[in-house]
Amino acid sequence: MDGIVLLKEDHKAVKRLFREFEKTHKTATAEAKRKLVDQILHELTTHAFIEETIFYPVARAEVPGTEEHVLESVEEHHVVAWLCSELKNLDPDDETFDAKVTVLIENVEHHIREEEDDWFPKVRQALGRNRLAELGERMEAAKPQAPADPLALRSARS
Ligand SMILES: [Fe+2]
Ligand SMILES: [Fe+2]
Repeated sequence: MDGIVLLKEDHKAVKRLFREFEKTHKTATAEAKRKLVDQILHELTTHAFIEETIFYPVARAEVPGTEEHVLESVEEHHVVAWLCSELKNLDPDDETFDAKVTVLIENVEHHIREEEDDWFPKVRQALGRNRLAELGERMEAAKPQAPADPLALRSARS
């Protein structure tokens, strides 16, 4: 699969989970919220991992004009990784839980908009179809190697 299509499919999947949280969080049990948020954290950590280990370094090295975007994106991942880590260890009944998820959603949606609107199109144009297909294969294959702990992401430590 084309690498950018793969990343956008991930974005769509996590946005669906965000909408589910927004619809259900006021009435859901703590157990149901835990399950949904754990799924969100897993999706985000896996996605950040394949971007940081494969897509971002290739874009930075091979696509002129993307270095600044990549550096900013990594800082956004950094903030999200720490939020994810807090949520992983926070009781869904804690009064701050829903507020933290809401801030996580705002951060990620802003980040997705920037990727999709501001710099992925440049990468598509510069790399071309075959190279993007190859990156897509590599990213799909790397997903199982993603860490469970968001703080094990490169961006969390930089
Ligand atoms: Fe990203
Ligand atoms: Fe992304």
